Amino acid sequence: MALLPILYYPDSRLHTVAKPVRQVDARIRQLIVDMLETMYEASGIGLAATQVDVHERVIVIDESEERNKPLVLINPELTWSSPDLQVSDEGCLSVPGIYDEVERAAAVKVSALDAEGHSRVIEAEGILAVCIQHEMDHLLGKVFVEYLSPLKRNRIKTKMLKTRRDTERA
Ligand code: NI
Repeated sequence: MALLPILYYPDSRLHTVAKPVRQVDARIRQLIVDMLETMYEASGIGLAATQVDVHERVIVIDESEERNKPLVLINPELTWSSPDLQVSDEGCLSVPGIYDEVERAAAVKVSALDAEGHSRVIEAEGILAVCIQHEMDHLLGKVFVEYLSPLKRNRIKTKMLKTRRDTERA
């Protein structure tokens, strides 16, 4: 097991579009183990492979209180999204310390492969629906701050760059 380094916004690699996983093999299973460890260590509820600089369609999620219900989505495809929307406060391990409101579908259906390579359908609402849509955006190279106004986004970019400079100097 290994902790993977997380890319921070505005790293341009976060805008890479991930490729489908060809085969759920030992390499992908190891990636999933490492991504779960990285997500739990960072106290996140979701992590996309894009965020650890692996550009393949893999997502891990755990929104349970007990942090013991990992959900693995490989090659996820959105098959339905509800017309009704919900607004919720989102954060992201790639944009630490920043939370803001994003409007998304209130419920979604997604088909994906699990860690064993079996196909399954996930129906989600509430936080899980938000999380799935947020992580699927990462696979398309999109970070949640891109839903915010240009003014807010620029403030976040400046803040993130300053934090990184301060960290490098320390
Ligand atoms: Ni994120």
